[in-house]
Amino acid sequence: GRGEFHHYMLKEMYEQPEIVLKEGTRPIVIPEALKDSSHITLVGCGSAFYAAWCGKYYLEQLAQRIVTLELASEFHYRNPMVQPGVTIAVSQSGETADTLKAIQYMEQKGQYTIGMVNMPYSSISRYVQYELLTRAGPEIGVASTKAFTAQLLCLLKISLTLMKEGEKKQHVLKGLQQLPMDMQKIFFKASQLQDIAQHLVHAKGIIYLGRGISYPIALEGALKISELSYIHGQGFAAGELKHGPLALIDGLTPVVVVAPMDQFFEKTVSNIYEVCAREGKVFVITDEAGATQLAGVPVQDIFVYPSPKAWELHPFLSVLSLQLIAYYTALHKGCSIDQPRNLAKSVTVE
Ligand code: F6R
Repeated sequence: GRGEFHHYMLKEMYEQPEIVLKEGTRPIVIPEALKDSSHITLVGCGSAFYAAWCGKYYLEQLAQRIVTLELASEFHYRNPMVQPGVTIAVSQSGETADTLKAIQYMEQKGQYTIGMVNMPYSSISRYVQYELLTRAGPEIGVASTKAFTAQLLCLLKISLTLMKEGEKKQHVLKGLQQLPMDMQKIFFKASQLQDIAQHLVHAKGIIYLGRGISYPIALEGALKISELSYIHGQGFAAGELKHGPLALIDGLTPVVVVAPMDQFFEKTVSNIYEVCAREGKVFVITDEAGATQLAGVPVQDIFVYPSPKAWELHPFLSVLSLQLIAYYTALHKGCSIDQPRNLAKSVTVE
């Protein structure tokens, strides 16, 4: 049951530091085919697709692999050409019809198939050559939270396993040990996220911006607000602002910017200035290091989480902040949090 928590979603969000603590140090066994393959394809739908997208950054940057990312619901209809390699299907339920179709297609094309699933014995588990369990425990809330974080972690662990030994790897591993505590600290500051939610609750639409690995996180934040609060959330790559979305900025459309202190920070800050100059109300999600650089920037509000040791760890902290914002916004609006309208936990039709 959900015990003292009002919603399964709240309980599942609170379970995330524990999952990172337990799974972060558990050794992962990956198949030889994955070790040997220079080309990896990642497929998934919805939140699983955004987790896979983060995984692309990890696998490219840490493991130096060539990574193709495919939205499962668009993939198999194209009859695409396929290079030899490994395909990883990312799916919480293991039942998503499009993801299953995508992995079946890849298997027919001679790919080695891996299912990264949260539900053992699921359809995808049974189909693939190798099963990687994300071990988040059953997720009841329709909106994915802890399963997303467990997928991120699993993708990071694979990338670290494939990464060559050295200082950089030790650095990320050290950071991973600190991460559960840092995630915990976000809950201590949840009232600040409630305040941001109060500001968002009357909006017709909310724009989410991010760069680099924070881009798929911005997309995930936009998906969370849309499905939970029924406010239209839309994510854009911050660098795309000038190519169109800037026309949307007005005093009524809040802009949530995911701006961790990483290699993209300064560029993202210049986007924040562009939005502010057009009366846009900006809410920044950043870490302590980023916050010190934002003094004097005319934003509406800043939520600050602890600075992790490595850029790879920001998504765990920023996505948790965005999940909580979506939760509190939906709560203020009185929405059906564990069972948003029109949605089902697993999508077994195409
Ligand atoms: C969003 C959400 C969905 C799922 C998607 C894929 O909160 O839960 O977008 O991520 O339907 O589902 P799985 O991971 O079961 O394949």
